[in-house]
Amino acid sequence: MFEGLTAAAADPILGLADIYNADERTHKINLSVGIYKDENMLTPILNCVKKAETFLLEREQTKSYLPIDGLATFNSATQKLLFGEDSPLLQTGRVKTAQAPGGTGALRIMADFLARRTKVRRIWVSNPTWPNHQSVFQTAGLEVREYRYYNPHTHELDFATLLEDLSQISAGDAVLFHGCCHNPTGIDPTAEQWQAISDVAAKNGWLPVFDLAYQGFGKNLDDDAFGVRFFAEHQPELLIASSYSKNFGLYNERVGALTLIAQNDDIATKAFSQIKTMIRANYSNPPSHGAKIVAYILNDPEMKNEWIDELTTMRQRIHRMRQLFVKTLQEKGARQDFSFIAKQNGMFSFSGLTESQVLTLRDDYGIYTVNSGRINVAGMTLDNMSLLCESIVKVLA
Ligand code: LMR
Repeated sequence: MFEGLTAAAADPILGLADIYNADERTHKINLSVGIYKDENMLTPILNCVKKAETFLLEREQTKSYLPIDGLATFNSATQKLLFGEDSPLLQTGRVKTAQAPGGTGALRIMADFLARRTKVRRIWVSNPTWPNHQSVFQTAGLEVREYRYYNPHTHELDFATLLEDLSQISAGDAVLFHGCCHNPTGIDPTAEQWQAISDVAAKNGWLPVFDLAYQGFGKNLDDDAFGVRFFAEHQPELLIASSYSKNFGLYNERVGALTLIAQNDDIATKAFSQIKTMIRANYSNPPSHGAKIVAYILNDPEMKNEWIDELTTMRQRIHRMRQLFVKTLQEKGARQDFSFIAKQNGMFSFSGLTESQVLTLRDDYGIYTVNSGRINVAGMTLDNMSLLCESIVKVLA
């Protein structure tokens, strides 16, 4: 049965971890996978998370199953984070949320639900996008097509061609957007651009769906949800896959959520029951530990403030690294203008490095980025900046 199988290609992002770990050079620098690093190159457990874990460990009384859609206090807290504490939408019954194993788990449930329970057969993703989007949607049986997004010459959103492509998409298709901190480019639509995109969705009747994996890493929790909130207010239907991997640093706890919005409570209830059938057939019900941490923190005002402070620290450090990176590249003699990197949001930047430059950086200098040229700015520190920029300048020369 298995003898005819050929080996699958290594994952373009997670596959790099093995090569990086096996690299014995002590000065190696990891700018590949999207994980936050502090100034000491560590991915710390947030203090608020540790506190929540201590609290939960003392009080936990059972390991019995969670419901199919997960922990209710987590799901309601997720809705408030997505749409705002006092959002009138939350009183309508139109919004339903299921806890999911990470943002990827949420995307997969979204994909299965679309492919098996709706008429959607095709989903459009930005070019470029996170490579796993293609895999998740294709594996669920959807055809994946691309709309234009990025102008590699100006390093900006190619808004005119984006709108042109979105205007050609017909009703019955789904279109995926990154809620904020676009992965891999770090370039997001402005508020006005989100509104224009929403107008096209309303006019053409395609289904907007969101991947919101970096809320809090762009500007702040509210501004980063602008696109999602605007669509939630103006579209009859919406799906949102959200993740707590990055903003709570809960990567290996796999904490995410899938949120559905429908025209009214009745439709939402029925559609959500179908989402639950997808979950039941997939992993039955979600794990509890990570969701309990998030629910505890988000539902306790003091803990929530502590979390927001820690999230702000992470965001501001990345922002400082962006500026220092641009400045140091210039000081080391880069002839290219990299100022665009300081303007982008979140962890990632599309550096413009070619695949062969990426491979030279990896082989000759021990610097790891994704082959597409995507760099994780969160992997930069005051200590590694000089070597990093010197190496990049040499490779660019
Ligand atoms: C990334 O894009 O590096 C992260 O979202 C991690 C992953 O799963 O690819």
